[in-house]
Amino acid sequence: MTLLSVQGLQSEFRTARGVVKAVRGVDLTVAAGEVLGIVGESGSGKSVTCMSILKLLKRQGHITAGKALFQGRDLLTLSEAQLSDIRGDEIAVIFQDPMSSLNPTLTVGAQVIEVILRHRKVSRAQARARAVELFDLVRIPAAESRVDAYPHEFSGGMRQRAMIAMALACDPKLLIADEPTTALDVTIQRQILTLLKDIQARMGMAMILITHDLGVIAETCDRVCVMYGGLVMEEAPVKALFARPSHPYTRGLLAAVPDLRDGMRQRLSPIPGSPPDMADPPPGCPFAPRCPAAMVHCVAERPPLFIATDTPRLGGGQSARCWLMHPDAPEVSP
Ligand SMILES: Nc1ncnc2c1ncn2[C@@H]1O[C@H](COP(=O)(O)OP(=O)(O)O)[C@@H](O)[C@H]1O
Ligand code: SF4
Ligand SMILES: [Mg+2]
Repeated sequence: MTLLSVQGLQSEFRTARGVVKAVRGVDLTVAAGEVLGIVGESGSGKSVTCMSILKLLKRQGHITAGKALFQGRDLLTLSEAQLSDIRGDEIAVIFQDPMSSLNPTLTVGAQVIEVILRHRKVSRAQARARAVELFDLVRIPAAESRVDAYPHEFSGGMRQRAMIAMALACDPKLLIADEPTTALDVTIQRQILTLLKDIQARMGMAMILITHDLGVIAETCDRVCVMYGGLVMEEAPVKALFARPSHPYTRGLLAAVPDLRDGMRQRLSPIPGSPPDMADPPPGCPFAPRCPAAMVHCVAERPPLFIATDTPRLGGGQSARCWLMHPDAPEVSP
């Protein structure tokens, strides 16, 4: 069952430098209980896509086209009051930096309790009991006393656990986690991701996990969207993406990962060159300036998203925005 369906989403920032076209026509779906990974280098439009869905774009940010159907209801047409009923309840978000989302002047427990009281008709005592239960769930030691601690009394890892507790407070159907562990050291990252995956599976909630780490994608996700230049470049079930990446950008990203089986991780971006300036993106394929397989046509016209039924070059459930998927294109070996 489709929980979220984003269709033709476009978002931009109107800045002194001009219009930054951050998201240029994104389609994605998330089924109930599914984990969708969004991967891509910095600046690809991953965060703006997710922030647009919840209408959380910063000032200067505007959604200019598209729909975000959540259980059939277009979130983009809802009022701020309707959306704030949904945020923190049916859809929760975790950001990279928990400090920016926690209020330093309130105890962590008080903030979790506030979320519960905002969305549920329960007493303060019941909400507090639920907060302790959530702290236990995210494995914060001595939950009963830690709920009364302030954010600065927590380590980075514990703060991120507290953020997860807050996000889970109302049993969301969808959790959006935007690089939830990037700010933490590697061992803690792994613990938190394992915890998130474990809770996701137990609660049966759907999750969108944004990361630039393909190792995390391999371990955590069911399906993956690879984003670049404000567009989804490839979408595939996770196994297919690693076994048979079809987009030159995906291949470039994968080539940058030494060996996932060793649990080795490396920051992406050894693809030569850098992502386009979204204030002035290339007219054709945004990856053309860096693509080893670029053809003349790639520079002139933006490729459509080819799906598996269009071309034998794609496996089941796979789609790719690349002219190489066109039946008349030359065969290029991976
Ligand atoms: N507040 C903002 N003002 C102007 N441009 C922005 C703002 N936030 C993001 N952008 C631009 O939008 C594009 C997509 O950004 P983002 O979605 O944050 O990338 P990602 O999450 O994939 O790293 C980038 O070109 C970025 O510079
Ligand atoms: S459309 Fe062309 S430039 Fe873009 S990824 Fe495919 S081959 Fe490379
Ligand atoms: Mg981001």
